[in-house]
Amino acid sequence: MASAAGRKPEEDALLETAARVLPGGVLGGYTAPRDLSFVVREARGPRVVDVSGREYIDYLLGSGPLVLGHAHPAVVAAVERQLSKGTTYFQLSEPTVALAEEICRAVPCAEQVRFTASGSEATFFALRVARAFRRREKILKFEGGFHGTHDYSLMSVGPRAPKAFPAPTPDSAGIPHAIQEHVLIAPFNDLAETEAILAAHHGDLAAVIMEPFQRLIPPDLAFIKGVRAITARYDVPLIFDEIVTGFRFAYGGAQEYYGVVPDLAAIGKIVGGGFALAAVVGRAEIMRHLAPELEGSPEYVTQAGTLNGNPIAAAAGLATLAELRRPGVYPRLFETGNRVKRALQEAANAVGVPAHVAGEAPVFEIYFTDRPITDYRATLTADRAQHRVFTEELLRRGILKAAQKFYISLSHGEQEIRQTVEAFTAALRKVAEGRP
Ligand SMILES: Cc1ncc(COP(=O)(O)O)c(C=O)c1O
Repeated sequence: MASAAGRKPEEDALLETAARVLPGGVLGGYTAPRDLSFVVREARGPRVVDVSGREYIDYLLGSGPLVLGHAHPAVVAAVERQLSKGTTYFQLSEPTVALAEEICRAVPCAEQVRFTASGSEATFFALRVARAFRRREKILKFEGGFHGTHDYSLMSVGPRAPKAFPAPTPDSAGIPHAIQEHVLIAPFNDLAETEAILAAHHGDLAAVIMEPFQRLIPPDLAFIKGVRAITARYDVPLIFDEIVTGFRFAYGGAQEYYGVVPDLAAIGKIVGGGFALAAVVGRAEIMRHLAPELEGSPEYVTQAGTLNGNPIAAAAGLATLAELRRPGVYPRLFETGNRVKRALQEAANAVGVPAHVAGEAPVFEIYFTDRPITDYRATLTADRAQHRVFTEELLRRGILKAAQKFYISLSHGEQEIRQTVEAFTAALRKVAEGRP
């Protein structure tokens, strides 16, 4: 069980050092309150162990890549095999070429692949290549959609006081004001408003970028099919950000799951097997702008990175994908996810806290509101303080989740599910006690 009381002096010392040498004492992602902070010693399957030896059932999973769980034997073996052959070449290698070929087999829109080292880079370069293809500069994204941490992405991801569409709100200090002129914002799941914005601005647009499953919000099928049809009509490339959904919702990602194929996609997380690898994938007609034969021409898109297509990451990715191709894997992932997701909603109902569990089986979250979660503005009606209490009370009981989602893995079994469901009820009681 996790609690500040159980923290050993060596872990306290590490946290003190971290507080001195890292801004805020963290790496930039989810931050637990001080009394619940910990330093990971190791992780295996669905469990993480901290330096004091306390164990956590893990629904954070490295922020998503570890759909097989931690240190999966097939991934470890593949990485060990590659390690002894060298760690990086900045050249083609067997695992890199094989992974690109497998991605093209799996992902419906993928005719070609350009590797990057992170998902943020993948969306950034997808936008750049779309600009080169379309010879326009503006992009349209959806309110509440997240595409990583570059300047174009951090627009209207989490505005507390949203503006009228299509005006953007920057989500970070340090973003040049000029970027706002290049980003339009539309409401997710609102086809009429999106169509009106596209009708007015398509002549200036290089691309529409969207998470097909936006954060925790499933799309109305008529909405994503409509966005696909309208962007095709106006010849504006449609980019799916499948960093979360790629190889998670189905082997072919959300584009297979929802049956809507974009022009380009950004994939990451699972495809790198827990290493630094992501990719821009898409139609060859657009991807050709990345090919060196165009170098020196105004059509050429410059993109390179020291670790792009790293062979260790590619080996880990290939091993992960091989496991995901086994029969029955996706039904099992969905069954586990549905059980935990349903149990969370039932626990909230039983305790009497108004709440909606939103998402799909492999990724979901609870919102403390009586409104169904169909778009970003609905999420603003949820009680953030209650959500913080819930996440912290789970952590106190040894359940680790992302700040705003549960990721499910194939390694979560009966014991983990039972422990998790017990913790749900206890944590939700704490939420209920704190209500006015
Ligand atoms: C939908 C989406 N796009 C892009 C990113 C950025 O990926 P990375 O953290 O690898 O830069 C993330 C990260 O969580 C994401 O969830």
